[in-house]
Amino acid sequence: MDLMEYQAKELFAKHEVPVTLGVVAETPADARAAAEQLGGAVVVKAQVKAGGRGKAGGVKLAKTPDEAEARAGDILGMQIKGLTVNRVLIAPAAQIAEEYYFSFLLDRSNRSYLCIASVEGGVEIEEVAKTNPDAVKQISIDAGTGVDEAKAREIVAEAAFPAELTDQAVVMVQKLWDVFTREDATLVEVNPLARLEGDVLEALDGKVSLDENADFRHEGHAAFEDKAAADPLEAKAKAKGLNYVKLDGEVGIIGNGAGLVMSTLDVVAYAGERHAGVKPANFLDIGGGASAEVMANGLDVILNDPQVNAVFVNVFGGITACDAVANGIVGALDLLGDEATKPLVVRLDGNNVEEGRRILTERSHPLVTMVDTMDGAADRAAELASR
Ligand SMILES: Nc1ncnc2c1ncn2[C@@H]1O[C@H](COP(=O)(O)OP(=O)(O)OP(=O)(O)O)[C@@H](O)[C@H]1O
Ligand SMILES: [Mg+2]
Repeated sequence: MDLMEYQAKELFAKHEVPVTLGVVAETPADARAAAEQLGGAVVVKAQVKAGGRGKAGGVKLAKTPDEAEARAGDILGMQIKGLTVNRVLIAPAAQIAEEYYFSFLLDRSNRSYLCIASVEGGVEIEEVAKTNPDAVKQISIDAGTGVDEAKAREIVAEAAFPAELTDQAVVMVQKLWDVFTREDATLVEVNPLARLEGDVLEALDGKVSLDENADFRHEGHAAFEDKAAADPLEAKAKAKGLNYVKLDGEVGIIGNGAGLVMSTLDVVAYAGERHAGVKPANFLDIGGGASAEVMANGLDVILNDPQVNAVFVNVFGGITACDAVANGIVGALDLLGDEATKPLVVRLDGNNVEEGRRILTERSHPLVTMVDTMDGAADRAAELASR
C-alpha cells in the first residue's frame, strides 16, 4: 500500500524523523483556515499517490491565507497522472538552502535492501541517474545487520553530504531505517531531504510503501487505506478474501493457483489477438479449495464487472479434485441464479477430471461451455467476449 505524503510524514514523526506535519485540507476554505492557523507563508501541496506533483503544478507557494485559498482552489480537483486531487497539504514554507535525495527500498533482484542517496535531490532522481549517474549513490544493506550507526556513517560518507551536516544526517538515516523496518515498509523515500537555512536537515516530502503482508502486525496501518479511491470490485474481492486484481479487458478469468492464472492471462491475451483484440479483465486466483462458495464469490465479483463479456474458468484439479470444482461451479451458478448472465467457458483437467466433466455435462447449464484444452478454451472465451 502506497501512502500519501501527509501519511508518510505522520510515520516519520512517529519515529522522530525531523518533519513538519502541516494541515490537510479538502476545500479552499479549509486551506485558508489552515494557512491562518499556521501563520506566515505556506506551500499548498496536492496529495496524490504519484510522483512529479511539483512539475504538474500541484505544489504552490502561498504568502497569505487569501493566496492559500486561491492556490488550493486551483489544485483541488486537478488531475495528476490520471489521479484526481481530493486533498491538499498546507505546510509552512521552508527556507531551503539545498535539496538532497534519500531512500531505502527492497532490492528484489539482489534479495537485499538498498539505500539510494544523492546530493542532487529535489528533482526526479531518474533524471539525475541519467544525466549525472555518478551523483546517485547506491549502497547495499545487509538484511541481517541492517543500519546501525556505523552503517549510517558509511551511507552518509558515500552520499557525500556536507561535512557540517554529517552528525545530523547519521541520526536521520537511522531514524528513516526505523521507519523502514519497524513499519514493514518496502520503500521509504525523502525527496527533497532539505538542508534548511541554519543548517538543519528536514524531510520536506515523503513517500512510503507499506508491505500489506505485514498488516497483521500494524493495527494503525488500516487507517491509511483510502477506501474511496480503491476500485469497488477490488474492495469487494478483498472483503471476500479473494486474490483479485482488476485489469481492463473483456475476458473474466478464474483459476486455481497463481501460476496457472498468470499463464491463463497469457493465453487469453494471445487468443484475443484473433478476436478483435479482447484482453483479460482480471487476475483471480481462487486457490486450493474451489468450493461452491469461493467459486460463487469469484464469479460474483467478475460478473459485476461491466466490461466482462465472457468468463474463462481454468482449473487444474489437484488436492481439490475436478468433481469438487464442477460441483462448485454448478453450486455457484445456482447461488447466483439470474445474476449470472454471461457465458462461461470451463476447462477442467487433472485429478478426477472425468467425473468433473460428467457433472457439468449432466447439468448442461445454458451459459456453460466445456472445452478440453487450455488453448481451445481461451480461444472460445475470447471469441465469446468479442461478440
Ligand atoms: N514545505 C516546503 N517549503 C518550501 N518549499 C517546498 C516545501 N515542500 C516542497 N517544497 C518545494 O517544492 C518541491 C516539490 O515538492 P515535493 O518534493 O514535495 O513534490 P514533488 O517532488 O514534485 O512531488 P513528488 O515527490 O511526488 O515527485 C520541492 O523540491 C521543494 O523545492
Ligand atoms: Mg518530492
